[in-house]
Amino acid sequence: MTPDLAQQRIAELRAQVARDDALYYQQARPEISDFAYDANRRELEDLERQFPQFARPDSPTQRVGDDRVPGFREVAHRQKMLSLDNTYNAEELRAFHARLARLLGTDDLGYTVEPKIDGLAVSLTYEDGRFVRAVTRGQGDRGDDVTANVRTIPSLPPQLAGGDVPRAVEIRGEIYLTAAEFERINAERIAAGEEPYANPRNLAAGTLKLLDPAEVARRKLDLVLYSLGHCEPAIVASQTDLQHRLRAWGLPVVERYWTVRGIEAAWAAVGELDRLRSRFAYGTDGAVIKLDDVAQQREAGATDKAPRWAIAYKFKPDTARTRLRAITIQVGKTGILSPVAELEPVLLAGSTISRATLHNEDEIRRKDIRVGDLVEIEKAGEVIPAVLQSFPAERPAGAPVFDLQAAVGGQCPVCAGRIARVVVAAEEAEGVAWKCQNYDCRAQRAGRLGFFCSRRALAIDGVGGVVAAKLVELGHVQDPPDLYDVALETLATLNLGTAEEPRVFGEKNAAKIVAAREAARALPLEKWLYALSVPDVGETTARELGRRHRTFDELADSPLLRAVLRRAELLAQREREAPASRKNPAKSDEDKARRKELCARLEAEVAVLEAGPLAGVPADLGPAVAASTREFLASGPGLRLRAKLRQLGIEPQGTVARAGVLTGKTLVLTGTLPTLTRESAEQKILAAGGKVSGSVSKKTSYVLAGEAAGSKLDKAQELGVPVLTEAEFLRLLG
Ligand code: IVH
Repeated sequence: MTPDLAQQRIAELRAQVARDDALYYQQARPEISDFAYDANRRELEDLERQFPQFARPDSPTQRVGDDRVPGFREVAHRQKMLSLDNTYNAEELRAFHARLARLLGTDDLGYTVEPKIDGLAVSLTYEDGRFVRAVTRGQGDRGDDVTANVRTIPSLPPQLAGGDVPRAVEIRGEIYLTAAEFERINAERIAAGEEPYANPRNLAAGTLKLLDPAEVARRKLDLVLYSLGHCEPAIVASQTDLQHRLRAWGLPVVERYWTVRGIEAAWAAVGELDRLRSRFAYGTDGAVIKLDDVAQQREAGATDKAPRWAIAYKFKPDTARTRLRAITIQVGKTGILSPVAELEPVLLAGSTISRATLHNEDEIRRKDIRVGDLVEIEKAGEVIPAVLQSFPAERPAGAPVFDLQAAVGGQCPVCAGRIARVVVAAEEAEGVAWKCQNYDCRAQRAGRLGFFCSRRALAIDGVGGVVAAKLVELGHVQDPPDLYDVALETLATLNLGTAEEPRVFGEKNAAKIVAAREAARALPLEKWLYALSVPDVGETTARELGRRHRTFDELADSPLLRAVLRRAELLAQREREAPASRKNPAKSDEDKARRKELCARLEAEVAVLEAGPLAGVPADLGPAVAASTREFLASGPGLRLRAKLRQLGIEPQGTVARAGVLTGKTLVLTGTLPTLTRESAEQKILAAGGKVSGSVSKKTSYVLAGEAAGSKLDKAQELGVPVLTEAEFLRLLG
């Protein structure tokens, strides 16, 4: 590969891996399988090694995936939480052993082999045997404080058992949901007309990051522990010893692990684990092979990201072969036409699969998939099954190449409206796609309504895909806000089944929707902006815009958006007029001087914009987003939505207008407060726009101190940071 091509591929892979990291760690809704993710990451690592001139410290290969989200206090780990190197291949496992043998000067090494649990990593701190804190891995050195949520886990002992307990210890493990609990919650959601979750790991990750511990408690998370962070005094001699101690302390541990000598015995244990794993309570996506002896572990050491003394061997995702009966076309909320594989039903990874995603037309062509083909499908646990490949050698004669436009007869399969080729960006299937051009298409309306009510938007629980489609089909809703006009009675009697087999939505579910839609009235502009599916406005953009505008009307005529567009114009003009422009070089000295002066003027105007309306505006709020937001708000559908909100008396406010008394302030809590619990004090601070930190520095705005405040209070006094009592704090909040 030439350096030019490598550089391009590295850039692509970095963007892809960073995006998949965010989807997996922060949003708990990955779009590709772990296997596909690992393959991308591996390719990127190899290229960065081969072309070190393109290696960069901010590459996603140089950090562990960050799970931190807003709303939680951040806490530093006393010992960094590392990730694990992984492999899908026995040869690399042997190479891992050979490396250790060289490093430690002996081939006779003891290992443990444990299940690799497919959950999310947490670190529990116990002090003098008492549970004090649970923190997510975060970025390795600091994570989110999820203590209140972890306390709801029934198998978590508040106190370690036995006499042999360290003074302070970080115990690491994995939070998960059992398959049974996953099914129970999904069944409940389906019954209530809500979208089911894709898999137990996503549901567990989403649950741990809920801001309401009561809701977390209802979902019955579970926990398993397997490693140590900081431990004083250091009393553990081996991984096997640790397994015994964890159990003796009364902590939940893995059902099975193996203590073996030599890598061949470890490999045999991996095989045994693979045969047993379907019986474990948690999802197991591999085996973790660890050097048993702690002294040897210490000698082997770690890189920035992972220990050298452990490796994960991951099992390949389950695949199956079946026939592709047909390719049907779904229309999404933005009108994009996506192909879906209709399959001869086949059993795969414990469930019967009859549909799989085909991503887009380009991919179908690239993989040469045709109707009637024998295909291989993959179910990787966390995502919708996907078609991996076809077997053209076994193809029935005369099967034509798939042509989406022909398949839908050149029109939208739902509304028969016009379709057009469009370029789609990140949010959906990337690349070129066909799109239904009719904003009022029934499928688009239903898609928008379902999205409007989704968790990340207005969280009107109860209106999932099925209910949304029904409300649109029966003409109760055209635009999402019409949901406010649907009477309780209408919702309660909604028939989600058929005339022969009616399935009535019910009074209770209907009342839930009414309560949730009323609560949503008070949500800020950023949520409404996101919820109303303004083209190109994702969650991040919505947040940026919502923070910088007070109302929809202000946004519609936003000086900021105008400035973004004006800057793009100025920069384009400067590009054209640059005297050394390759396309249009200066023709004479006179021309050169004139254009130089013009460019300086253009740059000065850009500088004025950047110091004024554009100050602090992130680069990704670019001209494309600005243009499409302005166009949409001034378009027929945009005006219709704004009028409807006005009629309903809904006027979402930007966070600028709602900033609290503690906006921009950082507070540190110490000691026991007379009436407030720590959690409720933290919530009050966050609600008033403030931040909570774990340590006092010059940047701390206030220290909120209670009874028995310790070193943090001393530090505050030393640095001259103002100290508040609870009463003063409450007065400050008004
Ligand atoms: S030990 C310093 N053991 O897998 C070594 N990790 O992909 C730390 N994991 O970050 C990890 N099961 O969250 C270890 N039996 C096990 C595990 C395990 C699952 C997770 C852990 C780690 C990730 C790496």
